Amino acid sequence: MKHGDLDLHSRGQARFVDDLPEPEGMLRAVVLPSPIAHGRIERLDTEKAKQSGGVRAVLRAADIPGSNQIGTLVADEPLLAEDTVDFAGQPVALVLAESEEAARAALTLIELEIEELPAILDPRKAQERGELIVAPRTFCLGDVEAAWQQCDVVVEGQVESGGQEHLYLETQGSLALPGERGSVRVISSTQSPTGVQRVIARVLGLAMHRVEVEVTRLGGAFGGKEDQATAWAALAALGAVRCRAPVKLVLHRQEDMVYTGKRHPYASDYRIGVSASGQVLAYQVEFYQNAGAAADLSPAILERTLFHCTGSYFIPNVKATAYCCRTNLLPNTAFRGFGGPQGMFVMEAALFKAAAVLGVSPAELQEKNLLKEGDTFPYGMAARRCSAPICWQEAKSRYDYEESRQRVEAFNSSHSLQKKGLAFMPVCFGISFTNTVLNQGGALVHVYTDGSVSVSTGAVEMGQGVKYKILEVAARMFSIDRGRVRVESTSTVRVANTSPTAASTGADLNGKATDIACRAILERIKGVAAEELEQKDPAGVEIREEQVYYRGEKTNLNWDRLIPRVYTRRVNLSAQAHYATPGIHFDKAKEKGEPFSYHAYGTALCEVTVDCLRGTYQVDAVKAVHDLGPSLVPQVDLGQAEGGIVQGIGWLTLEEVLYSEEGRLLTGTLSTYKVPDIHQTPGELEIHFLEGTENPLGLFHSKAIGEPPLMYGIGVYYALLAAIQAFSPESDLPVVAPLTPERVLMTLYRDRLAGLRGFKTKSKRSVSR
Ligand code: MOS
Repeated sequence: MKHGDLDLHSRGQARFVDDLPEPEGMLRAVVLPSPIAHGRIERLDTEKAKQSGGVRAVLRAADIPGSNQIGTLVADEPLLAEDTVDFAGQPVALVLAESEEAARAALTLIELEIEELPAILDPRKAQERGELIVAPRTFCLGDVEAAWQQCDVVVEGQVESGGQEHLYLETQGSLALPGERGSVRVISSTQSPTGVQRVIARVLGLAMHRVEVEVTRLGGAFGGKEDQATAWAALAALGAVRCRAPVKLVLHRQEDMVYTGKRHPYASDYRIGVSASGQVLAYQVEFYQNAGAAADLSPAILERTLFHCTGSYFIPNVKATAYCCRTNLLPNTAFRGFGGPQGMFVMEAALFKAAAVLGVSPAELQEKNLLKEGDTFPYGMAARRCSAPICWQEAKSRYDYEESRQRVEAFNSSHSLQKKGLAFMPVCFGISFTNTVLNQGGALVHVYTDGSVSVSTGAVEMGQGVKYKILEVAARMFSIDRGRVRVESTSTVRVANTSPTAASTGADLNGKATDIACRAILERIKGVAAEELEQKDPAGVEIREEQVYYRGEKTNLNWDRLIPRVYTRRVNLSAQAHYATPGIHFDKAKEKGEPFSYHAYGTALCEVTVDCLRGTYQVDAVKAVHDLGPSLVPQVDLGQAEGGIVQGIGWLTLEEVLYSEEGRLLTGTLSTYKVPDIHQTPGELEIHFLEGTENPLGLFHSKAIGEPPLMYGIGVYYALLAAIQAFSPESDLPVVAPLTPERVLMTLYRDRLAGLRGFKTKSKRSVSR
């Protein structure tokens, strides 16, 4: 079974916000952004713009009827700037006009004077000055201070990882339709319909029941529409209510790149202590998260960094501290992995360097310290049904690690200007929102009298195929043809108080709610079937492939004949259901608990070849063994794994988000920002789903797939570092991502370059990130 929207997508018939038929009298909205990263607004004069042809209104903060506040975790983000601007790209005013051209022409007539203030761009500097969005968090296990004495080798280092542009194919956008008595209906490209509903209600001063938010599908999101779709939806709704007209606000690609937050860059310090035999005894790490100018989801992302700071390893003594640093960059946001990748990246840096000092391969250290059943995570939970060792061993044998290692060594000793690198990347990723309250899903199922089925849930389809997993749940539960089931758009009036479709939980939470709702209807259907068959025991009724059986015997009833009978007997053919993940809890005062329903595990083996004259490289292979349990829709899961891996490779190798020293984004176009294309896709990309595993806590015993595979891309970084090390073994290699060809070249020759007068090998780093 494939992704059911394939035909629509390939014919261009799938509708996104910008494709919807435009209602009569619709206005277009465009935003005036702050041109600078930090300043005090001295003058904002919109009079000339208001007189411009076709312009209906020019709105500013004072025109907001409710609260000018869109912050979710922390109330620190105005919808429209008031007295200050805190990042370049921040919305200052909103123009509503009869055409986009008219709106854009009016933008140039707005007079905005800002007195520039110094901008902080570096998270370490922000931390020094006490510019923290929330208090620092520390996760501890054992006693690192006592453990350092027992270590034979203690290694320290610094790590930097960069931002990442989401580059969803569909840009941010919303269409707002005003209704009666000031109500509003908004079609939004959001992962979080309820989040958008809540904020629009707050901004417009309305009860939530006056705001309906609907999503048909998104053209990708990757976390970029978890919190950051909200501003554009709220602006469209504000315009619609103020002008009493439908309003469309859809960002152009470059606007989207310049106005919206990205993956958080992190600066980190680590210290790792290892015994002579290669046992990691202690690990200390400080994370400086570059949150940008507002909290957005940063505190939650920071938390996930801590949850994943020891990667796929057991370390008995850990102290990890994380700072949520306020800077004058765009508010950074969720991005596939949600801070987990940043944490794991540092762990792998520590192991890589410790291995070099010990004179062993990183693989040896990785394997020796790999998580096993019953091991404790720094947050107190034990690893259960831990398939880390089996994935590692399976990857090692299936992908002939020993042979590969020898082949790579032979290649490296016979080539002086080309080097190969090999690296394992084990992944352990916790499944559940770390914010326990969000782990709930809802479903509304109707069986119509012709036997067709309609399913609504809180899940948002963003190309990840959640819709087809939910369809599969309903079809399996009723044992009917998949063609009978339709999964509807996501609407806040059909399923309320939904969590964002995020944290890889969309299918689990909403699929399980669907399962419960279908089960309730099925019980009633079986009751009617027993009566129709003049039998006493509804439990004896079974529906198999649309046929009704009683105690194993085929009857003359089938789905088509049975469903109208259920209606005739006035039995309810609809059900609403709710699912809440059982058993999870977390105590933030102690930083201990059971925050995850389960963990996803796997291991990838990565191989690269570096051209040591030019610094260019190719990714030869990424081959992963991944524990997914029994897949509901294998094609969809494979697509998620492949896409995630390539996106992870992009983050750490090609994709470079750069800001000027004044805090202006320098990489806000597709000519200055490079995402992976077919040439950067691994020559061999293989994913083997481990056979014979079961996850009782997942949907039909499967496991979540959205985020975990992205982190296999980290292995490509360390394979590149291994290749560089093969070229210049004496180097204490800097760990700075992305490792672009330019940076590879600088690293290959850094010792020689450092000797050249006036040549700064770190020149790139003076540009803040
Ligand atoms: Mo996802 S990064 O949890 O939207």
